[in-house]
Amino acid sequence: MFVTGKLRKISIVGSGVMGIQIAVRAAWKAGNRVSLTDISEKAIAASKVREEQILSVMADKGLVTEYEKAKVRELITFTPDLDRSLKGAELVIEAIIEDLRAKRELFKKLDAVAPSDAILATNSSTIPVSRVEDVTTRREKILNIHFYDLERMPMVDLMGGTKTSKETMMTAEKWARDIDCIPIKVNKELLGFCMNRIWHSARIEALNMWANDYVDFETIDRAWMVFTGMSIGPFGMMDNIGLDTVYNVHMMYYNEANDISKKPPDKLKEMIDRGDLGVKTGKGFYSYPDPVYVKHDFVKR
Ligand SMILES: NC(=O)c1ccc[n+]([C@@H]2O[C@H](COP(=O)([O-])OP(=O)(O)OC[C@H]3O[C@@H](n4cnc5c(N)ncnc54)[C@H](O)[C@@H]3O)[C@@H](O)[C@H]2O)c1
Repeated sequence: MFVTGKLRKISIVGSGVMGIQIAVRAAWKAGNRVSLTDISEKAIAASKVREEQILSVMADKGLVTEYEKAKVRELITFTPDLDRSLKGAELVIEAIIEDLRAKRELFKKLDAVAPSDAILATNSSTIPVSRVEDVTTRREKILNIHFYDLERMPMVDLMGGTKTSKETMMTAEKWARDIDCIPIKVNKELLGFCMNRIWHSARIEALNMWANDYVDFETIDRAWMVFTGMSIGPFGMMDNIGLDTVYNVHMMYYNEANDISKKPPDKLKEMIDRGDLGVKTGKGFYSYPDPVYVKHDFVKR
């Protein structure tokens, strides 16, 4: 049991938008050895590029020295081989697509291959771990660890399943603090956890106002930026998340509630079908790498 000690090795399965952010954070803040794996070689290659981008943004902000950058690079390894990635892992974080069936299949594999005392966590944005736990033989060692955009919002929702032990929750909480993230504990199972649930409600309102031509998306972002003091609005944030992920998350809420007002707009689906997925494809609501909302006069336009 690792409650008092520091975790040494973690494995992250799914090296997309979130996987690499979590890897850099864990290596940087906690000195964890991180093995990042993905079924797609292309995603792994893209992740290596993204690692360098994250490190240079951090260096530009004066957060890391050249020595620390080298250390992070040394601590993070990439492999398409799941078995190899899981070897010796004390914590496994699943960060694959937001799809229950895919997650259940993966957790079955993780349970079979990961060390028997390893904790298995899902970074799902909506799916409570109780919907996955029954495919494993370690229900006491399984939980939701849900991250936010780590550059702007270093916090994690922590939520157990039906049998998650206190030790598992405490280990996860301690690790969250080791990586300098504020743990947000959810005491009873809740779809979407804490801040994510609040954020989801605001987001569906924003999407519906835009899709039904009430207000332009830039105007909604301006209003949000003035209201919250943030340097980014909901549409900029959705571009960062990835519009495909945003859509899947909203479908999950919609299917759960069976309430048409929660259905993500078709206009969003059309953007996804065109391949406009946000930052990861260079175009979403805004165009990248220089989205207009970062310009100093954006809010006053
Ligand atoms: N994007 C965000 O801001 C954000 C924030 C919090 C949580 N999440 C959640 O994190 C998870 C990942 O989101 P993302 O935005 O990083 O997605 P993404 O689409 O950027 O990356 C997902 C990766 O998983 C890989 N993958 C798919 N199936 C796999 C499998 N069986 N084994 C290994 N790899 C597999 C894909 O090749 C892809 O590279 C989702 O559950 C999402 O809801 C995302």
